[in-house]
Amino acid sequence: MQKITDTTFPGELIRAFARAKKIFCFTGAGISKESGLPTYRDLDDGTWRQYDPMTFATYEGFMDNTPLVWNNYISRFRQIAAARPNPGHTALAEMSRLVPQFYVCTQNVDDLHERGGLAGTGHIHGSAANVRCIKCGRRYPTTEELLAEEITESNIPRCKACGGVLRPDIVWFGETVPVDVLEKAAEFAYTCDICMIIGTSMEVSGGYGLLSYAKAGGAVTVDINPNGSAVSRQCDYWLQGSAGNMLPALVEEMKKQNK
Ligand code: APR
Repeated sequence: MQKITDTTFPGELIRAFARAKKIFCFTGAGISKESGLPTYRDLDDGTWRQYDPMTFATYEGFMDNTPLVWNNYISRFRQIAAARPNPGHTALAEMSRLVPQFYVCTQNVDDLHERGGLAGTGHIHGSAANVRCIKCGRRYPTTEELLAEEITESNIPRCKACGGVLRPDIVWFGETVPVDVLEKAAEFAYTCDICMIIGTSMEVSGGYGLLSYAKAGGAVTVDINPNGSAVSRQCDYWLQGSAGNMLPALVEEMKKQNK
């Protein structure tokens, strides 16, 4: 593993990006931190340091504390709506236009990749954009009206079709991730030229095996994380810096090589 602490990238890394035809990215809360959205485990702003994940990120917690959990998500969804993509998001969108095949699988439920100009992002932990009926599974867009609500036992959001309770369309602990997203991520990881792990502790999703697929497939592996993650030392390169700084610099190098 080569640790790189600034944007003076080694020649072999620049050449790898210049010749890459297929890039896979796996992102986490860290890429949205510079947009003002909290991470889950950082010491300064980690959501799970403030809220018990067993209450706020499990089906049982939701069913036992429906108004409390709904109001917590409504507040987080309002934060997402007020946030703007940062240079890390827009750089990934620009990078996607520089290579023939590019896929981002994100653990984030925000839509900042999309609002930063990147189409086709896979949301492996669900999305704040929708809510879902626990009874019939119907999905509805998350509306402004819902985000303006203060939920109590008497106005719990309900499905128009069957009357079932609506929940955030988020994958909670103990629940399965969308198979189509995981399969596409695994296929890209195994066949890409470069695999970037960006802004994630890899504490939850390390089990998805995506990095091991990328290594087995012979990809150059890069972790972009200012504090390091569970996989920094398993990667070929650890760019020890913020996504908002490292990604635009990588894109600039790619554009120089493409001239
Ligand atoms: N740029 C890049 N990475 C950053 C930045 C930044 N500006 N700031 C912080 N980070 C890194 C932190 O060092 C940390 O390793 O982002 C990572 C965030 O880790 P977590 O808070 O654990 O978030 P994440 O990895 O996305 O969590 C994965 O866990 O609770 C579940 O479903 C939840 O999707 C979430 C999953």
